[in-house]
Amino acid sequence: PMTDVNLPIGVFDSGMGGLTVLAALRQQLPQEDFVYLGDTARLPYGTKSAATVERYARQAAGALVARGIKALVVACNTASATALRALAQEFASWAVVGVVEPGALAACAVADSSGVTVLATESTIAGGAYQRALLHQRPAMRVLGRPCPLWVTLAEQGGDASALTDTILLDGVRGLVMSEQTPDAPSTLVLGCTHFPVFRKRLQQLLGPKVQVIDSAQTTAGSVATALQSEGLLSDRGGNSQFLATDGVERFQRVGATFLAESISDVELMSQVMIID
Ligand code: DGL
Repeated sequence: PMTDVNLPIGVFDSGMGGLTVLAALRQQLPQEDFVYLGDTARLPYGTKSAATVERYARQAAGALVARGIKALVVACNTASATALRALAQEFASWAVVGVVEPGALAACAVADSSGVTVLATESTIAGGAYQRALLHQRPAMRVLGRPCPLWVTLAEQGGDASALTDTILLDGVRGLVMSEQTPDAPSTLVLGCTHFPVFRKRLQQLLGPKVQVIDSAQTTAGSVATALQSEGLLSDRGGNSQFLATDGVERFQRVGATFLAESISDVELMSQVMIID
């Protein structure tokens, strides 16, 4: 059956982090409608087992597909790393785009011989998907990685500027990124979790201009645009976004605005009935 080009693009994350990807999508695809689902009731994904993350990801994707979408963006590195293949299989009639591959491409575009450091959730680092995606692009590349689970919590709290935030950020990159103390460490830092771009500006200030801080938002939006175009699915009207969360809609609306860099007018509670464990 022909897909309706005016259906929205579905985007999901475990929480508000994926809004950093939605911001890039809205910028690159201003004529599209979006429906964003934050699975706030079950966040974090990044400390859970692969089987659980896959189950959550299937349910979140299924809930969006049931509402009617024309494409699915997995705006969560943890879910992309663990479940992208399963989602692409289950929802084979939809364009399914994740964030790991685009993030790896963005990093390879700027990385020099010092290599790349990936910061992500425990699950993403342990599963090695980023490392594999980077080495697939550049087989001899030096790739370092570290889980930064605290950064997700910090981000979901709004990522406020404070001395404690700086301490936690610096602890995450300790020894892994080029600095005066570690001149041989990689000069490219990949934010391999969609929550982390809220710290981008501060990180850049803390690390200095020699370090390139990369995230997957822009390249992911580019991949989505290419996928829609190649399937003749681009819309020429629209530009609206709807927001759904599995818990804490008021909080999502308030704190989510910092991730989206825009105010959020309305958040619908996606009842637990839709997402059956
Ligand atoms: N934003 C998600 C990611 O990109 C993870 C946050 C979480 O642990 O749920 O990995």
